[in-house]
Amino acid sequence: MSLLRDHPLAPLTTFGLQASAKRLWSCSSQQEVQEALGHARSEGWPITVLGGGSNVLLTGDLEGLVLHNCIRGIELIKEEGEDVWIRVGAGESWHGLVMQTLDEGWFGLENLSLIPGSVGASPMQNIGAYGIELEARFHALDAVEVKTGAMRSFSHSECEFGYRESVFKRELKGAYVITHVTFRLSRRPELHLDYGAIREELERAGIEAPSPKDVSDAVIRIRKSKLPDPAEVGNAGSFFKNPVLDDAQFAKLKLAHPEVPHYPAAGGAGTKVAAGWLIDRSGWKGHNRQTHGVHDRQALVLVNHGGATGSEVLKLAEDIQSDVLAKFGVSLEREVNVLPLP
Ligand code: FAD
Ligand code: EPU
Repeated sequence: MSLLRDHPLAPLTTFGLQASAKRLWSCSSQQEVQEALGHARSEGWPITVLGGGSNVLLTGDLEGLVLHNCIRGIELIKEEGEDVWIRVGAGESWHGLVMQTLDEGWFGLENLSLIPGSVGASPMQNIGAYGIELEARFHALDAVEVKTGAMRSFSHSECEFGYRESVFKRELKGAYVITHVTFRLSRRPELHLDYGAIREELERAGIEAPSPKDVSDAVIRIRKSKLPDPAEVGNAGSFFKNPVLDDAQFAKLKLAHPEVPHYPAAGGAGTKVAAGWLIDRSGWKGHNRQTHGVHDRQALVLVNHGGATGSEVLKLAEDIQSDVLAKFGVSLEREVNVLPLP
């Protein structure tokens, strides 16, 4: 057992907000996760799971037990024609995995380069960027049930993926610890260049026949030009989701603001609108409350300049939500996970 007490959490999260874990257990195997959960059950401790800490906002100390997922390993488990299946430990770094698959010649994750965090959290919100979501390459996952310690596998359909959504953010919130994720990749490149900025970036670099590595490099350059590096300024990426409006809501918004950036929502139902644009147009971009504020190049990202508390950041988020609702009639939903759970 490796149980740490009163452990600071700022270094384990990208927002860098001050908070501590009453108890922290770093688990490096599925058996250790089961052991830690069994111990917590017998002591009556509530459980919080932490991966890379890049999508959480800590508003206070975490009581009970924080289970830090450190399960490693990338295993080729099956090959069929050009397809390969790999099973990956939840504690592997997401970006590290993307880089390793490119080195191996296993393609399909290149558009998701440089997303921070762990592999185990990737199905939580079906991570997405530059025209691809995790679910396109997801095959299955293994998880331990918090209440019983029993193992369960989830197929693609059982995860109920949506835009920045899965069953683990809704009905099964807090109910499972994901230990391994299996992906289906391909040795045959299948490039997704439809997200406008990728083509522009490839053209700028003078690349006419891109490889998956070229796409990855282009995505990395675009991301670095827009998003703050958590090593330099605390943040958790997009703080809000892009809202999906129904036809009537969107028609009204478009009439008043014909220039609003928008995209068809996945599945054909409704229109996704750029929340960053709504926040920017409401005058919040670069807004500064000394310790925290709104990023000056991407209004969807809230930042901790140093010394902010989670409650202060949450208050700023609420002020933005009220203002955007008043100005555009659009409700913004948080993407970031607030801990401790209310
Ligand atoms: P954490 O922050 O540790 O946890 C997130 C949630 O998942 C928490 O509720 C936690 O309890 C739960 N959880 C974590 N691991 C497990 C597990 N093994 N089992 C069960 N529950 C678990 N996201 C995107 O989708 N696209 C982007 O382009 C993107 N860009 C970003 C850019 C920046 C600069 C930053 C800081 C973040 C960005 N994000 C993006 C958000 C974030 O990187 C992802 O959500 C990532 O998957 C979070 O992984 P994590 O390991 O850090 O999760
Ligand atoms: N925009 C503005 N002002 C801003 C920010 C954006 O006008 O301050 C406009 C842009 O000009 C563009 C549009 O809004 O026309 C969309 O902006 P961008 O391309 O930067 O993407 P986004 O919709 O803000 C989403 C994801 C990101 C992901 C990128 C690339 C969500 C909530 N966010 O951002 O994911 O990396 O697309 O695919 O879907 C994350 O989830 O943490 C994240 C960073």
